[in-house]
Amino acid sequence: MKLHKPVLLEQTIELLNLKNGQTVVDMTAGYGGHSEKILGLIGKAGRLVLVDTDIEAIEELKNKFSNNSNVEYIHSNFADIDWNSIGKVDRVLMDIGVSSPQLDQAKRGFSFSQEANLDMRMNQDQELTAEMVVNQYSEEDLASLIYRYGEETRSRRIASAIVAERQLEPVKTTKQLATIVSSAIAANSKINPATKTFQAIRIEVNQELASLTRALPMATGQLKKNGRLAVISFHSLEDRIVKRYFKEITTGVKDLVTGSEISSPNYRLVNKKPIKGSIKDNNPRARSAKLRLVEKIN
Ligand SMILES: C[S@@+](CC[C@H](N)C(=O)[O-])C[C@H]1O[C@@H](n2cnc3c(N)ncnc32)[C@H](O)[C@@H]1O
Repeated sequence: MKLHKPVLLEQTIELLNLKNGQTVVDMTAGYGGHSEKILGLIGKAGRLVLVDTDIEAIEELKNKFSNNSNVEYIHSNFADIDWNSIGKVDRVLMDIGVSSPQLDQAKRGFSFSQEANLDMRMNQDQELTAEMVVNQYSEEDLASLIYRYGEETRSRRIASAIVAERQLEPVKTTKQLATIVSSAIAANSKINPATKTFQAIRIEVNQELASLTRALPMATGQLKKNGRLAVISFHSLEDRIVKRYFKEITTGVKDLVTGSEISSPNYRLVNKKPIKGSIKDNNPRARSAKLRLVEKIN
């Protein structure tokens, strides 16, 4: 199994501006790349809470940090965390999406290049799998989610091909689905024609956009004064949600008639423009990464 190479590591750590003794929540701890650096900076006096929805990641984290009594573990979707048990915090990090070990292990069913059952669950306890989405959703719902979450304009043709195929036999594997998509639409770029459909189904299975939308206000609401939230996103749908929410909380309310500010915002943008990953990072995932941060000021 390939290790997960953390994306935008130096930039994230620098902008989080960590101090000894702080309380930090890593909401997507994964394989602990960012967390390891964070722990080094908050020291033994600090408190680090590691969250991940993937039980395999939590087990890896427990091994990795077994000598650190100031590290806590929560196996949960970050949208369902019980924040009362954590209290107010100095820093929160969200490095959303899937990790390399999730993508690279064939059995997880995320990748069209490796044969596996259509699974795609980040949380192995959850009921809904990619196989259920592909075989049970109506043609209309499939077309709609492939269009919205995959930004795939040929979604109707793909949904119709899936439904035609599943009437003959259930679509059970990653390669089966990739073949259906490739036969339904011609490749019009270098990327595999199934890429967008797989992204869409993964987002649906894991309810990724809904979880992000729910988690952002909970995380910012939990920040102490001068506390910071950093979010790394990997595609435009996620980044749009983060950008809009950050704009909303960093903009004051203006009197519609006079234009004067009635109330000032409680947060400020730490970086006006997102920090972008690049090919130079020697990590294909970094190319589309964007880092945004807000700070609580009142
Ligand atoms: C990109 S990886 C994070 C890698 C991590 N920063 C590191 O350096 O190893 C994203 C992780 O977030 C987890 N994740 C994604 N969505 C989640 C959610 N809604 N709740 C909790 N964990 C989630 C995934 O299981 C995955 O392990």
